[in-house]
Amino acid sequence: MHSIEELRETFAKYLNDQSFTQEPKNLYEPNNYFLQIGGKRLRPTLLLLSTELFDGKIEEALPAALAVEYFHNFTLIHDDVMDKAPSRRGYKTMHEKYNLNTAILSGDVLLVKAFECIGKTHGDFRKLFAVFTKTAIEVCEGQQYDIEFETTENVTQEEYIEMIRLKSAVLLAGSMKIGAIIGDASEENANLLYAYGENLGIAFQIQDDILDCYGDESLVGKLPGGDIIQNKKTLLLIEALNKDDGQLKEWISKKEFDQKEKLQAVLNIYDQYHIKEYALEQRSAYVQKSEQLLNQINLPGNKKTILKDLVNYLVIRDF
Ligand code: IPE
Ligand code: IPE
Ligand code: MG
Ligand code: MG
Ligand code: MG
Repeated sequence: MHSIEELRETFAKYLNDQSFTQEPKNLYEPNNYFLQIGGKRLRPTLLLLSTELFDGKIEEALPAALAVEYFHNFTLIHDDVMDKAPSRRGYKTMHEKYNLNTAILSGDVLLVKAFECIGKTHGDFRKLFAVFTKTAIEVCEGQQYDIEFETTENVTQEEYIEMIRLKSAVLLAGSMKIGAIIGDASEENANLLYAYGENLGIAFQIQDDILDCYGDESLVGKLPGGDIIQNKKTLLLIEALNKDDGQLKEWISKKEFDQKEKLQAVLNIYDQYHIKEYALEQRSAYVQKSEQLLNQINLPGNKKTILKDLVNYLVIRDF
């Protein structure tokens, strides 16, 4: 069994060898740009790890690992348009570097390439296709809720959790399930691994929301405070709104404002209500849920130890 770091490196080499060389250049080249500016490669690493957990061969899982990374990058390219984000991974987002049409169409072809990779993967195609398709549909559903919530007044924490489960956690969970299927895991183990990944994925997205407010820009690589500027209903904003005496609602309803001023004002309100601490507690609660699920998976102890390390890669991270 390889370490998480070794699996990530194996995937990174494979990805590098697959860079797009075909025509038209203006369709494919932007995807090479986007895939090469960085990325933690979490989903393909999870997928390969899950295959090895059940003694499957990682060579057979590499096309599926590429599929989840392509799909993830497709979602980011379009997400950056929807979120009006100027930077990612420390570089310009696709629509900023090229233009909107490029972000749309190069993103689209990357999505289709992801499906092509699933078709090239060793294993039960129908099963793999079903998990991948369900996951991809759910991500779109989550993204729709994310956008709708920007202008919805009373979003509850339950609705928020369901939104991030869809937009973010299911792809991490689905990657693990796909890896398990390639490794020929039992259905029960594959489903437990999915549920484990789902809870860890929720903790992962809570951390993403925390980093958006409190991360170090040079490490995170995204413009800080984007969620606050856009009125994203993150866990932090929802909890602060529950405590609000009116000042936060006023900032949210302002149509014209100085971005820096709004950011500072909202962060001050968060401090006043200890919102960061609240988000960290919730993050821990989902990590704990994932640990309970891990206990139920039928795997030898040494393999579970490797899985326990995942929390450091996915959740307790500063980029
Ligand atoms: C960013 O995902 C999008 C979210 C679901 C929060 P990552 O943090 O995995 O992005 P990269 O691929 O490492 O840049
Ligand atoms: C992104 O959520 C989820 C997907 C791309 C599907 P965010 O909008 O929070 O991700 P970042 O912060 O831009 O990476
Ligand atoms: Mg978004
Ligand atoms: Mg975004
Ligand atoms: Mg974010």
